[in-house]
Amino acid sequence: MGTSSDGVFSEAFVEEFDDLLRWRRDVRRFRTEPLADGLLDEILASAELAPSVGNSQPWRWVNVVSPERRRAVADTFTRCNDDALRGYRGERAKSYAGMKLAGLDDAPVHLAVFCVPDPDQGSGLGRRTMPQTLEYSVVTAISTLWLAARARGVGVGWVSIVDPHDVARALDVPGDWVLVGYLCVGYPEAVDSTPELERLGWQARTPPGVRYEVR
Ligand SMILES: Cc1cc2nc3c(=O)[nH]c(=O)nc-3n(C[C@H](O)[C@H](O)[C@H](O)COP(=O)(O)O)c2cc1C
Repeated sequence: MGTSSDGVFSEAFVEEFDDLLRWRRDVRRFRTEPLADGLLDEILASAELAPSVGNSQPWRWVNVVSPERRRAVADTFTRCNDDALRGYRGERAKSYAGMKLAGLDDAPVHLAVFCVPDPDQGSGLGRRTMPQTLEYSVVTAISTLWLAARARGVGVGWVSIVDPHDVARALDVPGDWVLVGYLCVGYPEAVDSTPELERLGWQARTPPGVRYEVR
């Protein structure tokens, strides 16, 4: 039970999978307890199953452990968040100021996810005319990780309100690596089937949009 040996999935699984998509959340409030032993490796192994252009697997996961490096990331977040707040006026500014947009203080795991610009792997296949597909590939891996984590009761919060160069510098990664996402990972304080930005009245999900068709 629970393993598809022939690549065919049951209706019950499909329903549960759709539930997983509905209940995956961007998490900003974490319990501070560490993840169970081996769980992060398990989640990362699942994320590695993501598709990538030419099978290049251009993602690089950096587990940020040092408090000093985490502090540097928190500092760039604070700076960028303050800048963003200054860009809003009136009710939107009040609303923005009231939102928690990162779980950097509590999340037991910080993962910075980078893209390498020219991996040998894949021998360039598929990215000659669209080099940006390398970064798209890293996004697919993050998306896969998000679901793989959530399926195991682990929350992920994507933090993009940072200066990517400051993050790269703080983590001392090779100069040509490109930051794609900074992720807070840990057990969520609470779960919800509605996005927090929707609950707070910032932005609701819209119903499925118009599908275009060209003939
Ligand atoms: C590329 C990307 C960057 C994001 N950056 C942030 C961020 O900096 N801070 C934040 O609170 N949420 C961030 N989010 C989460 C979105 O706000 C969230 O996905 C959206 O509101 C829908 O909510 P849900 O993920 O719970 O469905 C980001 C999501 C994506 C995909």
